Amino acid sequence: MANESSAREHWSGGLGFILAAAGSAIGLGNIWKFPYITGENGGGAFVLVYLLCITVIGVPVMLCEITLGRHTQRNPVGAFRMLNPPVSRLAHLIGLCMVTLGLVLLAFREWGWGVATLGLGLAVFKYGWVLVGGLGVVAGFCILSFYSVVAGWTVGYTWKAMAGQLNFTDIPTAEAAFGAFIVDPWWAIGCHAVFMLLCILIVYRGVRAGIERWSKILMPVLFGILVVLIVRGLTLPGAMAGVQFYLSPDFSKLTTNSILIALGHAFFSLSLGMGAIMTYGSYVGKNQNLFLSTLSIVVLDTLVALMAGLAMFPAVFAKGFNPAVGPGLVFQVLPTVFAHIPFGAFWATIFFILLLVAALTSGISLLEVVTAYFVDERKWTRHRATVVFGIVIFLLGSLCAISVTGWERLPRLHDVLVATFGSVKGSFFDVMDNLASNWMLPLGGLFISLFVGWIWGTKRAVDEIRQGSHNFADVHLISLLAGLKDDPGHNDPRHVITLASLWGIFIRFISPVAVLIAFLNTIGWLDLTKKKSAPPPPPPAIEQAEPAQESVEP
Ligand code: PFF
Repeated sequence: MANESSAREHWSGGLGFILAAAGSAIGLGNIWKFPYITGENGGGAFVLVYLLCITVIGVPVMLCEITLGRHTQRNPVGAFRMLNPPVSRLAHLIGLCMVTLGLVLLAFREWGWGVATLGLGLAVFKYGWVLVGGLGVVAGFCILSFYSVVAGWTVGYTWKAMAGQLNFTDIPTAEAAFGAFIVDPWWAIGCHAVFMLLCILIVYRGVRAGIERWSKILMPVLFGILVVLIVRGLTLPGAMAGVQFYLSPDFSKLTTNSILIALGHAFFSLSLGMGAIMTYGSYVGKNQNLFLSTLSIVVLDTLVALMAGLAMFPAVFAKGFNPAVGPGLVFQVLPTVFAHIPFGAFWATIFFILLLVAALTSGISLLEVVTAYFVDERKWTRHRATVVFGIVIFLLGSLCAISVTGWERLPRLHDVLVATFGSVKGSFFDVMDNLASNWMLPLGGLFISLFVGWIWGTKRAVDEIRQGSHNFADVHLISLLAGLKDDPGHNDPRHVITLASLWGIFIRFISPVAVLIAFLNTIGWLDLTKKKSAPPPPPPAIEQAEPAQESVEP
């Protein structure tokens, strides 16, 4: 057992790490969410904005996480604990502000928010930057609890597709079937349990024999299925209307809100802000090129997101359906579309296997964050940590599963939350989603870049990155682009625009400011969307005019 914690496991090589991290990044966010937010926000125009967000914020922050992980060889809490400066003025300042805010809230009798802010402020004061790592571990719990519920639906639908039970003739039938499926506790909790069991079995086996081995098997499967589905969709008559809807740029649909959506999605999609990539980075050897690995992961993630839309929209349009938003597209429209295609049960089965594979490689990374913390910091064995927290997350997820349509089944919990915080938006599932996606990930990303940029320092980070990737730190960017990187004259220290210097500027200034703006907008403290949003007439009319909610036969 002692061995388990003292000799840290490592990936067998660069490919293992890239596929595992890409597996974490590629998930339900790519296949389910990206295509429909792209279709809604101006197609190709949105893709351009998304690519910009990925380049300006995704790549720099991911490189930060991987570098922190590899340098410290620890889980997120351990990483910050190792590098936490004994006196951090910034942490003290933030702690003090939060304590003050907490007291003000208490003075206004906002008991729940007041106590929460006060407690968090004191914790920031006491633990400083270590709390950013802690936030990541807690986010792992929260995200996996609702993520595994949706993943459970894919387990159930894979089963139903194989059994030929998804041959819906029209959308209302599909909607009714899906509605009945998610409220049936046996199905919802049973499928969620199967998914968690799969995650536990893989993480239980360890970094190489579990996560890496399965990523190497599952990622090619995912690519293969996507290609097959794209070919099937594009060869249906009338498919081009779908491609047009998906990718033709419409700048008039692009609002400030679209930019914020792109930014938020970039974080979720790349698994940033909560230490999953940091944890995977902690299993990377010193000879790996961190910069190229980061680029490969980001490119793979973006490619799959783009491909996912091409696998769905052409088929949806070819069969005369309108794309729905949210779960509707994947769980209602697509099964109906497949039912209208020859060998529909086969296509539906491989589509849900695709979703399941994507969700599984992300789910294991979420469980690994929690496991790594208990193995490194609490000296638990991997086996114990995986099983115990797999079960804890299963139980938390079961609450999400049974409350997905409302609070009727959890009235006590609802009352407690309302009594504490005044009001609760959405179901328990939504509360978890909102907490993790809108609060924890952006705050995590913000603090990770501030920490690397200003506290630990870009100099130390670049020294770490330099091991295994000299190009990144020492080659003049223009020489690299010009193919002159091996010319000694072009490595003159006077040339200051290296990839490393660009990255430093992004991490210190651009990423934190952009993330902060997006975060303040999400929580409603800054409203950038006011002017651009729909003019005075109330939204319901606009929503109804939008065809995307309902799918209809031609
Ligand atoms: N990146 C995953 C997706 O796009 O579905 C979700 C996710 C996985 C977020 C792991 C965060 C994480 F740590």
